[in-house]
Amino acid sequence: MKSNKKNLLIVEDDPGLQTQLRWHFDQYEIIQATDRQDALDQMRMHEPEVVLQDLGLPPDADGVTEGLLTVQELMKIAPHTKIIVITGNGDQENAIKAIGLGAYDFYSKPIDTDTLDLIVQRAYLIYKLEAQNRQLKSQKHDSPLEGIIASDKQMLSLCRTIEKVAPTMATALLEGESGTGKERFARAIHSLSPRKKKRFVAINCAAIPDSLIESELFGYERGAFTGATKQTPGKVEIANSGSLFLDEIGDMPLSLQAKLLRFLQERVIERLGGRNEIPVDVRVVCATNKNLSSMVADGSFREDLYYRISEITIEIPPLRDRGSDKVLIARHFLKQMAEEQKKSITGFTHETIQAIESYHWPGNVREMENKIRRALIMCESKHISANDMDLLSSSTEISLNLRHVRQEAERNAISSALSMTDNNISAAAKLLGVTRPTLYDLLKKYQIHVT
Ligand SMILES: Nc1ncnc2c1ncn2[C@@H]1O[C@H](COP(=O)(O)OP(=O)(O)OP(=O)(O)O)[C@@H](O)[C@H]1O
Ligand SMILES: [Mg+2]
Repeated sequence: MKSNKKNLLIVEDDPGLQTQLRWHFDQYEIIQATDRQDALDQMRMHEPEVVLQDLGLPPDADGVTEGLLTVQELMKIAPHTKIIVITGNGDQENAIKAIGLGAYDFYSKPIDTDTLDLIVQRAYLIYKLEAQNRQLKSQKHDSPLEGIIASDKQMLSLCRTIEKVAPTMATALLEGESGTGKERFARAIHSLSPRKKKRFVAINCAAIPDSLIESELFGYERGAFTGATKQTPGKVEIANSGSLFLDEIGDMPLSLQAKLLRFLQERVIERLGGRNEIPVDVRVVCATNKNLSSMVADGSFREDLYYRISEITIEIPPLRDRGSDKVLIARHFLKQMAEEQKKSITGFTHETIQAIESYHWPGNVREMENKIRRALIMCESKHISANDMDLLSSSTEISLNLRHVRQEAERNAISSALSMTDNNISAAAKLLGVTRPTLYDLLKKYQIHVT
């Protein structure tokens, strides 16, 4: 049985010193090595946090070459390990060389075990703190952005991209199906930028009649058209020194695209009916659920504008492709809404979880939000049923799918084993870790013919 003691590797060829150290450090699980190869083998096997290593090792027991080489190679395979080298009395020079190679500390003979004890204890402490630090850093790396629920790998990497893009002035284009969170991410870009204290102004090009978009965007002077009773700034001007979010940019009328391009290139606007050029300083983020490149191909979107707005394109994956995020987001909404509405609904039935996982989610996160809201109204128990969410239970579909996936994987593995072994049944069976009769059964099951 493995003890709970910490591993301490002692690399020492002198049997007397070995015994003394082993005896003294009995609170640790002592692993011993007498030369370089032995030390490397023990390191691979036990991964000790701390190593006590003599610099004079055979075959150069009177020199330091072998000892220094050992430090170097140990650091290569286990760079976080704390190596304390034991040097000959007064051999500062080689001690410093060892530190240069990555050793943590040195101690000169003759050995006073109590002092060495303190050095070893401190080495374990430093190792532990560094390990915690690494873990904290990696947790940060694995966290989504504020207000965004995600654990799926591609979503986390998307969050990292947003963090990199946010502080720059690059015009970002967010592409994604309806309800995937384009606006959410656009706001995240703004709030992670130096402009976060300034305004985030959104304009939805699909929601405004074509005839009004221009005045909405660029504003107008008094008398510019009938009903223009006073000078009115447009959204671009209002967003000055902040961010402008051009939502559904694919719906921008072709007639206005040239004007928008001019603003993006020159960063000046002219109000409708005005004669002055007004400089504006805005960060622009665009979003679309349309395929802009095919719109460029069919002539409904200007190519030059497309390139201008897509300096950085960020594709937001549909919810159905986000693995376990579906259930994670569902739980998040449930908790949030149940708290808001003071309802004591605590979770989903097993069947609902399966239905959430297998449903196609054409309306993405927004649809999830709506379905959970509905479920909270419908639910009569502590757990939301698939019916409450207006989802068909699909448990049978899932198990069938899973079986299908397994069979497919099995079939593929058998085919590749056969091709790797030139259809040698014994060799293929060995590769697959099954007996010959089992492989014959499987070949029959999958109707794989071996010639
Ligand atoms: N990862 C997420 N975590 C939590 N909430 C999210 C997430 N993604 C989106 N939402 C929420 O889902 C809803 C839809 O998001 P959003 O409006 O940003 O999507 P959209 O892509 O702009 O949709 P549309 O194309 O319909 O305008 C919002 O209420 C948003 O707060
Ligand atoms: Mg939107």
